[in-house]
Amino acid sequence: MIERVLLTSHIAGFVLLLLDPFCEFLWLRRQGTARESARSTRVLWVFNRIAPYGYVLLVISGGFMVARGWDLTSPWILGGFIGYAVVAVVPVLLVRPRGERAERRKAYVGLAGRFGALMFITYAMVLKPSWTVLAWAVAAFAVGSALLATAATGPRPGRRLAARVVFLAAAVVAVSLWRWQASILPPSFAPAGHSGHAGMAGMRSVTDLTQPPTDAPVVQVALTAEVKRVEIGGIGKDAWTYNGTVPGPALRVAVGQRLRVTLTNRLPEPTTIHWHGVLVPNAADGVAGVTQDAVPPGGQGVYDFVATHPGTYWYHSHNNPSAQIERGLFGTLVVTPAAGADGAVPADQDHVITLHTWGGAQAFNDSTRPEPIAATPGRPVRLRLVNTGSTRERLSISGAPFTVAAFDSGPVHGAQPLGASHVDVAGSGRVDLLTTLAAGQELDVRAGGTTLRVVTPGSRLAVPPDKDFRLLDAMAYGSAAGTAPLPQPDRSWNLRIDESMGFFDGRLTPLYRINGTLFPNGEMLMVEQGKTYDLTFDNRSDDDHPMHLHGHLFQVMAVNGKAGTGSPLIVDNVNVGPHDKVTIRFTADNPGIWMAHCHNLPHAAAGMDLMVGYEGITSPFRAGRDTVNKPE
Ligand code: C2O
Ligand code: CU
Repeated sequence: MIERVLLTSHIAGFVLLLLDPFCEFLWLRRQGTARESARSTRVLWVFNRIAPYGYVLLVISGGFMVARGWDLTSPWILGGFIGYAVVAVVPVLLVRPRGERAERRKAYVGLAGRFGALMFITYAMVLKPSWTVLAWAVAAFAVGSALLATAATGPRPGRRLAARVVFLAAAVVAVSLWRWQASILPPSFAPAGHSGHAGMAGMRSVTDLTQPPTDAPVVQVALTAEVKRVEIGGIGKDAWTYNGTVPGPALRVAVGQRLRVTLTNRLPEPTTIHWHGVLVPNAADGVAGVTQDAVPPGGQGVYDFVATHPGTYWYHSHNNPSAQIERGLFGTLVVTPAAGADGAVPADQDHVITLHTWGGAQAFNDSTRPEPIAATPGRPVRLRLVNTGSTRERLSISGAPFTVAAFDSGPVHGAQPLGASHVDVAGSGRVDLLTTLAAGQELDVRAGGTTLRVVTPGSRLAVPPDKDFRLLDAMAYGSAAGTAPLPQPDRSWNLRIDESMGFFDGRLTPLYRINGTLFPNGEMLMVEQGKTYDLTFDNRSDDDHPMHLHGHLFQVMAVNGKAGTGSPLIVDNVNVGPHDKVTIRFTADNPGIWMAHCHNLPHAAAGMDLMVGYEGITSPFRAGRDTVNKPE
């Protein structure tokens, strides 16, 4: 019903706008002629007064429609507008207004202005948030010139002009206030839905999905979240830290070991720890308002899980993460293969390094001018690079042949040695590099103007020119031989990502809607244990979206319809580039309620989050202003 009303108003707005200039000109033409007093001229005059409000109708209904997930940006709709505009302009040009030259010129300016407004006001903002300012400037010019062009021609022009300006201003203010108010999240809501209660037959709560007892050896770790003054690259700030450092302690366990982390919160705000990429039981996932209540200031929490997959991971707060991670609440976790299985790289040549921008400069771990890492010639070196930032990093790697041993925690089979290469790492993603340097050789990794050198005695930094670097295509790297394909999906979802400018929880911000919705209003993607699912991210925005799924590994099946040809890319995060279409496949093998979201944290904080829920699992937790929880 409401959809119908919206569509009808939208179309009515258009019709008014299309008729507007035509009638205006007919009317202008009749002025000073014998037909000036004809009844049809009076009708034209009345219509001319109403028609400009077509803009208001169009903008208001368009805003509603976008908010409800209508796709107003398809080339068909935009193409249609241009067609309409031509159809409306041509007759006007044929009719030709009479009268003074100055008056005619005003009339043409008004005409141009109106069509400018038609094209821009509603659609430019929807297409590209950065166009908003331009859109409003054009709209202001358009409406202003339209008003000037017509106000001077009727009776009591001054009053009519004033009335229109007041009406339009009031409409703009009213719509903005209403959008702002409507965007404010309820004081308490259930981000994980309420499909049932844990007490109901067959339903289980996320709080029951804990690590089952094992005789695995326990590694105890204490992490204290606290404010500490830290200095990186000459810029000091009161960072939010784990155990006083940024990044926090580099944790390392072997497959089969049980990690038991006690978090003590000495921050002024509730916090949690999420184990990014680690296949933890759901209760240890650390998402405030979904799998736990955030640990309040002065409180303690425990995370308990067995490490099952070797790889490079990181941990970070998942309560108000966009603010808390930015202030420094992150650290690394490396899971090494079970003892004895990792003979290749000596422990002192296995390095884990975070990439994070700090006051505008790229830092490797806690330094924007990292000390060279000394390597023993002839022995393998592993560099585990962790992008803890929100945006894609392009690493420029040169100096010696190397291989990419893993993307995220997924090992590359049959990795070919590479020369000077650019390697992209999505926000929150990791790459592991492997090299063995001869005496006098070094490997250089450059990111955002900072260079990390792995040196041998006598080696020198010599970066080749940019044109010598080749961009690595992760989908075509390594060998597919001997890897079993995942089964065909039991269900697929298409997730359309659109960009607009608007309010989220009372803030004016770029919005990235997924299928027209913002958190927590999206559909929960319901899965069943043991089944296989496809998600296609159809990015229609001009931005990268590093899409991350909690609690699972997924395979990147296709990028823009092209299947991978190399070692299967099995990751926990994939960068979905501007206007790219990326399909991922995962098997539901870890029951719980898991977040799937963009790891560009400002995007996530503006509603770019979804939930993947297993049938039969519920969460008792809530989020919102009246709770301690802020998952996004
Ligand atoms: Cu790094 Cu929701 O996660
Ligand atoms: Cu995003």
